[in-house]
Amino acid sequence: MVNQRIFSQVQAVGSYLPEQILTNQDLAEKLDTSDEWIQKRTGIKKRHIAQENEYTSTLAINAAKDALAKANMTADDIDLIIVATATPDHTFPSTASQVQHGLGMSHGAAFDVQAVCTGFVYATSVADAMIRSSQAKSVLVIGAETFSNIVDWEDRGTAVLFGDGAGAMILKAVEQDIEDPNPRGILANYLRSDGQHKDKLYVDGGVSTTQSTGKLRMLGSDVFKLAVRLGSEVIDHVLEASHLQASDVDWLVPHQANQRIISAIAKHYGMPMEKVVLTVSDHANTSAASVPLALAAAIAENKIKKDDIVLLEAMGGGFTWGASIIRW
Ligand code: ACO
Repeated sequence: MVNQRIFSQVQAVGSYLPEQILTNQDLAEKLDTSDEWIQKRTGIKKRHIAQENEYTSTLAINAAKDALAKANMTADDIDLIIVATATPDHTFPSTASQVQHGLGMSHGAAFDVQAVCTGFVYATSVADAMIRSSQAKSVLVIGAETFSNIVDWEDRGTAVLFGDGAGAMILKAVEQDIEDPNPRGILANYLRSDGQHKDKLYVDGGVSTTQSTGKLRMLGSDVFKLAVRLGSEVIDHVLEASHLQASDVDWLVPHQANQRIISAIAKHYGMPMEKVVLTVSDHANTSAASVPLALAAAIAENKIKKDDIVLLEAMGGGFTWGASIIRW
């Protein structure tokens, strides 16, 4: 076994989007905005919105069940659940505990990770570390959000940007020969944060400050200006750590906040847009759910195939930012 090394291999990716759809035109009927402005500035056409009885955990459980079915696994095969969310059902218990119960599991462990839009990349990195250190064998990594509950629906600067949804990825420990030049699984992760930017993107309420939930506030153009630079920083790190070049990447799966940010990152690396997975037009920004939702969409379209190099990148409130690179 000395010549073996544990890698976290992706078994399947599942997704769930609430049925209710809110189009730009629907928003333009309530706010001083237009379909043309929203599409031109963001690339967004529509977003899904959870019903009153659909909680973040409901979305997460549906995505998890989809992933388990696609992997031909059951909850009995999972020993860790990590849910990335900034919109938990309750202050506590964690949404992950509620997902665990919803899946009929009473074994293993479950916890939440909070890194806003970078949450899924953070959760993936934590899951990979747990697998590599033999603390878990099969992990459900979920990004699930109901941002519709924290959006200020009267603020046209933010209300048009967000949507609800959930995505789930199953990672499994697989031992591979240490000499294998092309091992499959997660090759590298890199996480960053810098709290000096905390006032550029935040929710103006919370348990310890206002004892209320609060609403999302964002200095959009400040975030926009930093997004490409910060995204490139973490991408550079994972490419270097995995001894790969940008030209080796088969699929860039970035956080879906704004098509202009995504196009600028792709251009910076000379990647053709055909290699970039784009779901922002149909989902808007679903925060921690956006990367796994995009992964699920790309798989459904038969884009991502075995042995492809898949690069995940995200940036969000905190600021937080990070990237993961996977040989599929
Ligand atoms: N409809 C019509 N006009 C609008 C709207 C709207 N929905 N929203 C803003 N405007 C107006 C503004 O009032 C402004 O008008 P003015 O020139 O008369 O003052 C004008 O449009 C331009 O506003 P900007 O904010 O400068 O527009 P910008 O081109 O920067 O686009 C946007 C705004 C889409 C928010 C962009 O800045 C952006 O995408 N920012 C980054 C978002 C992001 O990546 N967030 C990170 C992740 S989110 C998370 O972690 C939770």
